[in-house]
Amino acid sequence: MAEKVLSVKNLITAFRIDKKEYPVLRDISFDIYENETVCMVGESGCGKSVTTLSIMGLLPENAVVQQGEIELCGEIISGKSQKELNKVRGSKMGMIFQEPMTSLNPLLTIGHQLTEGLIRHKGMSKKEAYATAVQYLELVGIANAESRMKQYPFQLSGGLRQRVMIAMVMSMQPKLLIADEPTTALDVTIQKQVLILLNKLKKTMNTGVLFITHDLGVVAEIADRVIVLYSGTKVEEGSAKQIFENNMHPYTQGLLAAVPNVDKDDFEIKAIPGTFPAITETIVGCRFHPRCPYATDRCRSEIPQAIEYEKGHFVACHKVEEENKC
Ligand SMILES: Nc1ncnc2c1ncn2[C@@H]1O[C@H](COP(=O)(O)OP(=O)(O)OP(=O)(O)O)[C@@H](O)[C@H]1O
Ligand SMILES: [Mg+2]
Repeated sequence: MAEKVLSVKNLITAFRIDKKEYPVLRDISFDIYENETVCMVGESGCGKSVTTLSIMGLLPENAVVQQGEIELCGEIISGKSQKELNKVRGSKMGMIFQEPMTSLNPLLTIGHQLTEGLIRHKGMSKKEAYATAVQYLELVGIANAESRMKQYPFQLSGGLRQRVMIAMVMSMQPKLLIADEPTTALDVTIQKQVLILLNKLKKTMNTGVLFITHDLGVVAEIADRVIVLYSGTKVEEGSAKQIFENNMHPYTQGLLAAVPNVDKDDFEIKAIPGTFPAITETIVGCRFHPRCPYATDRCRSEIPQAIEYEKGHFVACHKVEEENKC
């Protein structure tokens, strides 16, 4: 039985704007197991990054966690102080951002940055840390690793910097790896190499991966399971097969229909009509109802709860519930 690495329970994260609190994540729950990649998808502003920052304990100052619990390898980490979280962040969970310079210090050599965490968190000697760092640079496909150790981030291309960041995070052998749009800024060939690399590292180290992306092509390639977010709500969750072949929520269907179908020689993009709601906007009932072609009075008044229709396949939609009534 695979071990549960992360458990997010009933998370509500809000932002304080003009002394009022507006929820951005509205009661989100999900789990991640070892050796699996869970992709989180949804339009810009739906709360993907806020989810990752809530887990890492890296939310901005005007954010408030109103409710919920986050468990990492059986230990509750929500509510811990930054000092306590620093230890967990260094050792048990790691994060790869879209822009590698978010994590790399421009003033320190690659070698310094790679060995620092190994010495501090893994208790390695300088010599051991150096050898381990070189080994991980080689593992992520960086040639002349020893000479790269002496260089500064600005001396490396964007793709190489991203690899260095992956090497840095993976050398800590985290149980949970969070990657927020890690390949969006890279060109297609390098993107592909990074994805292959992450997959290899996941398998060899049994890591649980939370992967955030806009790109459904990437999701199809790497996801074991998929979580679809809409305006801070989990509208559908399932295995990659369930989401791509048997999706049920009208939003998931719209999202997938927005991808041009190359196989059918049909490049028409069916965008989802309407606009994405601002966090300050009050919507009664289902958050998606103003854009949903199937909305009924029930959708306009009652928030749909997630129901499990097949094993591991959850959907929060009144229409789906009514159609599947016995
Ligand atoms: N510091 C902040 N103060 C106020 N609101 C914020 C802040 N950071 C994010 N938000 C709001 O929270 C919501 C979710 O933002 P988030 O960054 O999680 O979106 P996202 O799904 O990651 O989008 P993208 O795909 O563009 O990265 C957005 O409506 C955003 O405007
Ligand atoms: Mg984001």
